[in-house]
Amino acid sequence: MTKSENTKNSSSIWGGRFEGGVSSVMERINASIAFDRELYRQDIMGSKAHADMLVKTGIISRADGEAITAGLTRIEGEIESGAFAFSAALEDIHMNIETRLAELTGDAAKRLHTARSRNDQVATDLRLWVRDAIDRISADIDALISSLLDQAERHADTVMPGYTHLQTAQPVTVGHHLMAYVEMLRRDHGRFADARLRMNESPLGAAALAGTSFPIDRQMTAKALGFDRPMRNSMDAVSDRDFAAEFLFAASLTAVHLSRLAEELVLWSSDRFGFITLSDEFSTGSSIMPQKRNPDAAELVRAKPGRITGALITLLTILKGLPMTYGKDLQEDKEPVFDAAEHLMIALAATTGMMRDLTFQPEAMGDALKHGFATATDLADWMVRVLNLPFRKAHHATGAIVALAEQKGLRLDELSLEDMQSVLPEITADALSVLTVDHSVASRMSEGGTAPAQVRTAIAKARQDRP
Ligand code: ARG
Repeated sequence: MTKSENTKNSSSIWGGRFEGGVSSVMERINASIAFDRELYRQDIMGSKAHADMLVKTGIISRADGEAITAGLTRIEGEIESGAFAFSAALEDIHMNIETRLAELTGDAAKRLHTARSRNDQVATDLRLWVRDAIDRISADIDALISSLLDQAERHADTVMPGYTHLQTAQPVTVGHHLMAYVEMLRRDHGRFADARLRMNESPLGAAALAGTSFPIDRQMTAKALGFDRPMRNSMDAVSDRDFAAEFLFAASLTAVHLSRLAEELVLWSSDRFGFITLSDEFSTGSSIMPQKRNPDAAELVRAKPGRITGALITLLTILKGLPMTYGKDLQEDKEPVFDAAEHLMIALAATTGMMRDLTFQPEAMGDALKHGFATATDLADWMVRVLNLPFRKAHHATGAIVALAEQKGLRLDELSLEDMQSVLPEITADALSVLTVDHSVASRMSEGGTAPAQVRTAIAKARQDRP
C-alpha cells in the first residue's frame, strides 16, 4: 500500500489517537454509508430524543439542545432534497449527520454524543426501521387478503379440481382454494405482529455496552420513540439482532407462501390449464413470439424467496459465534434486512394486483374435472353410507369401477348402472346422484370443508376478525 492510496480518515470524530490516514481499502471495507443512509430518518429521530433527554436531565444546556434539534431538522431537509453530501470517509450515517451538525452548530453538536455510543445508536435506528417496515408490510398483507376475500366471495360456488401430488384428487371450490391462502397470510400477519411486540424495546442508553455514568432517563427516550420500555440489559441491547432475524423469518415464510400462490398462477394461466386469465397489466409479451402472454410478475414473485430466505441465512450466519457484545460484523446486518423488506413489499403489491385483476375461467375448470375421476371418493363414501360397507372395501370396489371406466374411456358419471353392478351388484341408481362435482362439493359440509356454505362462513369470519 503506497502512501498516496491512503486517505485522510475521520480523525475529527474518533481519530484522536491516530496519526496516519487509513488505507483506501480500509475505508472501502469499513464504510456503510452507501446503504445505511437508509436509516437517516430514524437516526435523526433517535438523536432528537436523546438530545431532549440530555436537556431534561441537565446533562446539556437548553440552548445546546435547541441548536441540535434545529440543526437535525435542517439536515433532514438537506437529505430529502438531495443537497446533503454523503462522505465514505465519514463511514456511516451516524458520523455523516453528526459531522454536518458540527458544521452547523459547532460545540453543541459535539455534546450530542454524551452518554451515547454508535452501538446503542445503530441498534435503536435499526429497530425503528424494522418496526416501520413491519407496519408497512402488515398493511400490504392486509390488502392482499382483501383481494383474495373478494375473489373467494365471487367464486364461493365455482368448482375446480383440487389436487394432491398435483394429480386430480377431489373437486373443490375456487373460494375454498383461495381461502387457504387467506389463512396462511393471516398467520404471516400474526408473525409480524408477534415480532413487533417483542422488538419494541429501546436499546438507547445502553451506550457502548455497559451503560453510562451520566444520569440519563431511558424511560423518557424509550417513550419518545414509541418503544414500550427500555431493554433490560445494556450488553444485550447493543448486540442483540434477534428482532431482525425474526423479521427476516416472518418475511421469508410470507415470501414462500406468495411463491406457492405465484406458482399456481403460472400453472393456471398456462394454456394446458387455462383456469385463469391474467390482466394485461400483469402480463408481458415476447419480443419474438407474438402469441405469447407471459406471467412474468408471478414468476418473479415465485423467485423472491431466493433473496429473502437468503437474507435470513445471511443474518443468522453473521450472528453465529459472535462474542459479546458489539462487533463490526453487525454492520452487515442491514443490507439483507433492507433488501428483504423491499422485495417482499413489491411481491405483495404484485400479488395483490394480479389477484384483484385476474379472471377465473369456470368452464375450463369444469372441463378439467371431466378427467381424473374426481368424484371417486364420493362413490366410495356412498357405499359406506348406503350399503354399510367398511371404507376399505368400498375403496377397493370403487378402484375396480374406476379401472373399468378407464378401460372403456368413460368418465365415472358416464358408466351405466349395469357396468357398476358388474363390480358391486348391490349398487343402486341412487349412487349415480353423488357423481356430479356440484353434489360432491356441496356435500363437504364438515367444519373447514369446501362446501360453498362453509366457504361463505369462512369468508365472513375472516372479514370479521381482520388481522
Ligand atoms: N456503522 C456501524 C454499524 O452499522 C455503526 C456502529 C459502529 N460502532 C462501532 N463501535 N464502530 O454497526
